[in-house]
Amino acid sequence: MTGASGFCGAVVARAAAGSGADVVCVGRRPGPVGEHVFWDATTGTPDLRGADVVLHLAAAVGDSGPEREFAAVNVDGTRRLLEAAGTTPVVWVSSASVYRPGPYPAAVREDRPTDGQRTAYGRTKAAGERLALAAGAVVLRPRAVYGRGDPHLLPRLRRTVRAGRAWLPGPDVTLSLTAVENLASACLTAHRWPPGAYNIADATPYSRDAAVAAVLGVPVRRVPARPVRMVAATGLLPALTPYALDQITDGLVLDIGRARARGWTPKARLTTS
Ligand SMILES: NC(=O)c1ccc[n+]([C@@H]2O[C@H](COP(=O)([O-])OP(=O)(O)OC[C@H]3O[C@@H](n4cnc5c(N)ncnc54)[C@H](OP(=O)(O)O)[C@@H]3O)[C@@H](O)[C@H]2O)c1
Repeated sequence: MTGASGFCGAVVARAAAGSGADVVCVGRRPGPVGEHVFWDATTGTPDLRGADVVLHLAAAVGDSGPEREFAAVNVDGTRRLLEAAGTTPVVWVSSASVYRPGPYPAAVREDRPTDGQRTAYGRTKAAGERLALAAGAVVLRPRAVYGRGDPHLLPRLRRTVRAGRAWLPGPDVTLSLTAVENLASACLTAHRWPPGAYNIADATPYSRDAAVAAVLGVPVRRVPARPVRMVAATGLLPALTPYALDQITDGLVLDIGRARARGWTPKARLTTS
């Protein structure tokens, strides 16, 4: 597997080892378990010899930076990985960020177009995903993965806290989140699913405000979204990029029926009051 040194990958690697798999962590840094084989996704070809299944989680993740740096990992790195995998089954971890931006009048299914993304991350994940789908991989699309050690979502949410309150833009919305344990359980079984894309999220969606209050342990106060968007668009608030705003104001609910139909059940969920 790739990406085992990262937030999601480390959980997947431990879960795979716990299920009895012989894990090989392919990447720049070792994973938490198993043998380490060096690969820089921006340059070389990964050594995947002997693998029964390839789990690809390595990605350039974030909402700022030059597009070519995202593409070097998410597109070119994917191309090299798929070539090296040959006929070995590949599970390619994508993201709900590939979907055409909202509004979302209904729960999003896998056939929603994957174009018009507003970030280099979303565009390059969509381009990498197209390569993976064309190569016959199983593609998983989680949204807003949370759990211990999360370096992306939680730090962003923490920056909304002032004076013991989380100040969130816009009205409360219903949205999907993905417990990292649910992504891991999907990763470990998805190689048996028919090739194609699958949404991956917790069993039911959440009220944004209840979820944020539960995660941060502080009450939520709402502020009008419009002025916040205007300030975010100036770039004056580096923590509050337009993408970060979309993540907490878009009511994006994933329809997970397709993965459930393969027998996958998301067991972990947030406790909200
Ligand atoms: N976190 C989320 O909310 C979320 C939501 C949807 C989808 N996803 C997807 O889930 C996957 C894992 O994300 P994450 O949250 O765990 O991100 P992360 O903590 O930032 O981990 C990214 C992983 O990619 C590896 N990587 C980056 N550049 C590399 C390169 N040039 N060569 C080799 N490896 C490289 C990193 O390894 P080193 O830096 O150690 O080399 C690290 O292991 C990604 O595919 C992401 O798109 C995440």
